[in-house]
Amino acid sequence: MIYLNGDFLPIEEARVPVLDRGFIFGDGVYEVIPVYSHKPFRLAEHLLRLQHSLDGIRLQNPHSDEKWGSLVEQIIASNDGDDQYLYLHVTRGVARRDHAFPKGVIPTVFIMSNPLLAPPRELLATGVAAITADDNRWLRCDIKAISLLPNVLLRQMAIDAGAMETILLRDGFMTEGAASNIFLAKDGVLLAPPKNHLMLPGITYDVVLELAAAEKIPCEVREVSEYELRTAQELLLTSSTREIMPVTRLDGKPVGEGKPGAMFARLYRLYQSYKQTTMRGSAKILEVHNR
Ligand code: PDD
Repeated sequence: MIYLNGDFLPIEEARVPVLDRGFIFGDGVYEVIPVYSHKPFRLAEHLLRLQHSLDGIRLQNPHSDEKWGSLVEQIIASNDGDDQYLYLHVTRGVARRDHAFPKGVIPTVFIMSNPLLAPPRELLATGVAAITADDNRWLRCDIKAISLLPNVLLRQMAIDAGAMETILLRDGFMTEGAASNIFLAKDGVLLAPPKNHLMLPGITYDVVLELAAAEKIPCEVREVSEYELRTAQELLLTSSTREIMPVTRLDGKPVGEGKPGAMFARLYRLYQSYKQTTMRGSAKILEVHNR
């Protein structure tokens, strides 16, 4: 079952008018939320980021966090599988085509669930390939906008090159992946670019930095140069659907020794055990972590 504007229905029966501003302008924002053992992972943080995205496009949040929480619980319960990922999407609604904001229009709200498959073991053992490209997106990459054409084109460059991800460079510095955040490791230090308007503030990114801090792994959150990217001993990719994955080839060359390294192994283990504790944790799905 999916949720669309107040109704729960099979996805095949869901219809959105062609004049929806999501369809016409890509005028909307979204979230992707992992669900482990029927529990949404870091829901409060995803809803905070949704609010940030809605503020960024000047669209009022159609629901309270409690209402979102209840919709999310109903969607999880009405779909098979312990592990799922939720796609949650809000657009500026249906109106005659005009760039200017329509008045008095109700936003479109859509939630669907898909099975969440853990990254294949072979890929975790070998690592994945990435390429680099110029980050030609807009300057509000902190907004999780549904207008993803640049990300689509950039990610497809990786697929066409037989790689998994495209790592983006702007003005000589690394920003993020086309659909992920990127960490580096060098000499036992974990390095990540700071959250700003040039990248999406990843929920997985936050979890990784929190876990690293708790384990006293040395971390530096600062701008990362193209040179540092190309000379890193390890590269890690994070996202809600791919968790943490090692990147072992960049533009056809091995990263470090060309195989997943110690930093990946450590963070992967920490991430998996953290997941286990949150699954067993309190029943409050709207709890904010480490604040
Ligand atoms: N994408 N940066 C970009 C551009 C992303 O699209 C994503 C995730 C991330 C990682 O954020 P998080 O850890 O909160 O998932 C970073 C989702 C999964 C998607 O669009 O499918």
